[in-house]
Amino acid sequence: MADVSFLLNGELVRLDGISPTTTLLDWLRESRGLTGTKEGCNEGDCGACTVMVTDGDGARALNACILFLPQLHGRAVRTVEGIAGPEGQLHPVQQAMVDLHGSQCGFCTPGFVASMAVAHMAGATDYDDKLAGNLCRCTGYAPIIRAAEAAAAAPVPDWMAEDLAALGTPGSDMPETVEALAEWYLAHPGATLIAGATDVGLWVTKQFRPLGPVAFLNRIPELAGITVTEDAIRIGAMTTVTDFGAAIAAHHPGLAEMIRRYGSTQVRNAATIGGNIANGSPIGDSPPALIALGATLHLRRGTKKRNLPLESFFLDYGKQDRNPGEFVEAVSIPRQPDRLKCYKLSKRFDQDISAVLGALSVSVEDGRVTAARIAFGGMAGIPKRASAVEAALVGQPWSLETVTAAAAKMAEDFTPLSDMRASAEYRLKAASNMLIRYFHEDQGTAANVLEVSA
Ligand SMILES: Cc1cc2nc3c(=O)[nH]c(=O)nc-3n(C[C@H](O)[C@H](O)[C@H](O)COP(=O)(O)OP(=O)(O)OC[C@H]3O[C@@H](n4cnc5c(N)ncnc54)[C@H](O)[C@@H]3O)c2cc1C
Ligand code: FES
Ligand code: FES
Repeated sequence: MADVSFLLNGELVRLDGISPTTTLLDWLRESRGLTGTKEGCNEGDCGACTVMVTDGDGARALNACILFLPQLHGRAVRTVEGIAGPEGQLHPVQQAMVDLHGSQCGFCTPGFVASMAVAHMAGATDYDDKLAGNLCRCTGYAPIIRAAEAAAAAPVPDWMAEDLAALGTPGSDMPETVEALAEWYLAHPGATLIAGATDVGLWVTKQFRPLGPVAFLNRIPELAGITVTEDAIRIGAMTTVTDFGAAIAAHHPGLAEMIRRYGSTQVRNAATIGGNIANGSPIGDSPPALIALGATLHLRRGTKKRNLPLESFFLDYGKQDRNPGEFVEAVSIPRQPDRLKCYKLSKRFDQDISAVLGALSVSVEDGRVTAARIAFGGMAGIPKRASAVEAALVGQPWSLETVTAAAAKMAEDFTPLSDMRASAEYRLKAASNMLIRYFHEDQGTAANVLEVSA
């Protein structure tokens, strides 16, 4: 049971002794009668449940269906009802949706309005990106984007700016320091840690799994954030994928570009880098990129800390080198000249899980390959380096001939599976082609999967 307090549409809400795995969506609709926020997929895919959540870092769009109430502690939530003014005045994005016919059946509309209001507040106008996590099945996207554009210049209504000023820093019964977490987890090694809940949320909403004791990591500021020193970039486990993408752009723009295709805005705003590593998924998008950059994982159990190369953490499908009571504190990347390119192959451009994710970093001096770190997701039961391919590159002239010969070694490194995302043959071919693409791009031939040319 947990005690939680947050602002809901400008009003302070205190909940004592709630079940910690109650989702915001269920609570809004069933306990508060706020049925404007809709349930579509209940798994983070459709955006019908999008709400605006504000804290000291600003306002973000999040999916209420996979957001547990304790994740809101000390934050402010606005649903579609609170995006309209206290006297029922429409927010500029709502008015524009009416004026420009942005809604037909209306089921998706509250979610769109929440995403649009967050973008409006931030002055963001990249709507293809900001609205990629909201699905509409009848109006079509053009009128919705026209509405977002029409509202962009209108000032942010006064009532929307109140949340930040009203936010307090209430105490909580959740761990608030890394020490407290380490001690608690050592005493409860069978407990479930909850970071962004973009995986754990689905265990509850789709698998109806009882979780037993849980600890929410969102109240531990030391676990979040990125520190850049002369030697390394250290990423705290609770850094969201959004914040990671923004910070890494200056160092490894290819990785930031790939992050843009990780889930949707709402998913990236919740999902954390620690969760993306700790879940051990063979198709997580950040591990191959971090492995290609030579990342080190920082683990902690009680007072004991240990560091290991990230690639050694992934032992086998579903098995990681993590002891009971041990958690991910951070991951760090050595500073290096940027040679990284990331290629995400999925059936849809946005909001899709990778069939293959290639992360390649090849260093070349005087026309010869001096080092190669190449890692793939979706090619094995774990994110894994292509060691035979790397060995075939190092020491060789940096040429198409070398690259083609090295690409042929892909079958020595991987025996991929066939599943609904791709066949084994397709995966092997695609991974080999990614290496060849890397070479061509390095030689100055631009490749853009969004453009087709004859
Ligand atoms: C709609 C949707 C789209 C998605 N798209 C993508 C995508 O494009 N690419 C991709 O890679 N993933 C995607 N995912 C999967 C998911 O977002 C990621 O795996 C995410 O990074 C998990 O992070 P989280 O913070 O939400 O983890 P949580 O769900 O909170 O936790 C995941 C697991 O990690 C454990 N854990 C979390 N933090 C720690 C820690 N610090 N130490 C030890 N254990 C910890 C938890 O106990 C749990 O076992 C998607 C998910 C959804 C719902
Ligand atoms: S109901 Fe579909 S994302 Fe929440
Ligand atoms: S208006 Fe019907 S789903 Fe968008």
